[in-house]
Formats: sequence, C-alpha cells, structure tokens
Amino acid sequence: MTDATTATGRAAAYWNSPETVTEFRSLDVQPYLTDLLARTPVDGPALDLGCGGGRNTLALLERGFDVLAVDLHQGMVDATRARTAAYPPARITVRQGAADAVPAEDGAFALAVCYGVLHNAVDRTRWEASVGEIARVLRPGGLLALNTFTSQTLDPRLRPGAGDGQYLLPDDVPMTLLPVPHILDAFAARGLRAEGAVHTYVRDLDVGPRAVLRCVLRREGD
Ligand SMILES: C[S@@+](CC[C@H](N)C(=O)[O-])C[C@H]1O[C@@H](n2cnc3c(N)ncnc32)[C@H](O)[C@@H]1O
Repeated sequence: MTDATTATGRAAAYWNSPETVTEFRSLDVQPYLTDLLARTPVDGPALDLGCGGGRNTLALLERGFDVLAVDLHQGMVDATRARTAAYPPARITVRQGAADAVPAEDGAFALAVCYGVLHNAVDRTRWEASVGEIARVLRPGGLLALNTFTSQTLDPRLRPGAGDGQYLLPDDVPMTLLPVPHILDAFAARGLRAEGAVHTYVRDLDVGPRAVLRCVLRREGD
C-alpha cells in the first residue's frame, strides 16, 4: 500500500502503476545512448540508476557491460528483471534502491546511466544527495550519461512546491527542476565535468512540455 498523503507515496503510486510500468517496459533505447555506448570502452561495470522498464540496462548488457540496475519502485525492478532474464546472473543484478542511497561501493562503476531520474527527487535535499551518490559510486575517470528535466521551460500545469526548485504535477507528484547551470555546477562541485556537447531542448511529451538537459560528464582523476 502507498500513502497518498506523502510526496513519496504519490510518486510510488504513479511509478508502480501497471500503466506506467507497461509504458516504460515498451520503450527502446535512444540512438544517442547506443552511439555513446558504441564508443565507450567496456573496462568496468556499469550502473543503470533509475532503470525503469530496463531499456538502457539491456543496451548496456548488449554492449558487454556487467550491470547493476537500480530503481526505487518495485514494479520497475520487476520489469527490468523480466526484460533482462536471458542474461546470466553474473552479469546483471537488479535491485530496489534509491538514487540518494545507491546500494554500491565507492568507485564501483566505469559508467553510470541516469536517464529521466534526477528530477524525480521529492525535495532538494534528496536531489543534492543523489548527485553526491552518483559521484561517489563512479570511479575516477568514469563517465556519467545524464538526461534530466530542468527549469529552463516550465509546463504551465506545474505548480510551485514548498521550496526552491520544487514543483508539483497536476496529480501532486513532486519534481525538482533546476536551471541548467545549477545542475552542471552541482556535478562540477563533486568532480564531474561535462565532456563534449551539452544538449538542452524542450520535448513535447503527452504529459506536457519538458525542458531536457542531456550530456556526458566525466569524473576527474585517473
Ligand atoms: C522516466 S523513468 C526513466 C526510466 C529509465 N531510466 C529509462 O530511461 O527508460 C524514471 C525512473 O526513475 C525511477 N525513480 C524515481 N525516483 C527515483 C529515486 N529516487 N531513486 C531511484 N529511482 C527512482 C522511477 O521508478 C522510474 O523507473
């Protein structure tokens, strides 16, 4: 049972709903991630943080990475397990866990993929903690493939939430939306800097317009 009176409960009800799980399970990997994977050496394990229905987990496995896939919501964990069931357990672990408390050792990953996840932080504290966790589990020289919504263009259906960067969707599910420079500065403060082009654009989704930041960041060192 989820508690509809709390932000985390409302988010869980949305992400665990059979409709949402089915939608994300049917998605295919984006060509820009396939391209990135094709030119990224497989020299350590990969993390798919907020794996959803498993499209990016599958792409990482196909490329040759061993993968830890993590999602906060059990419906998504089950979907990714089902989608990657053909791979041996030595190559894929799917776990329930939070972006702000990643269940992995420091420096465990050569590559992390975090697509569509960071802005789901229910408050600013968890958003900052999630950035810190990504930096912690990436090894020096490791790469982060990031895709997150930003505050660059705001859907008029969003309502301001309790604090800076907080917004509420029409169903009261919270989002943390920040300006692009703030997001890049938060990663830079933890030693991750953009490498190559930083893409910002607006996508017209069925839920409304969403400003996107998409880029690759490298953790300093090595
Ligand atoms: C937009 S979906 C993206 C799924 C997948 N990354 C993809 O590209 O298809 C966002 C995912 O983040 C998960 N999620 C939301 N908040 C999370 C958190 N705090 N920690 C981990 N996963 C979270 C949701 O359950 C959902 O599966």
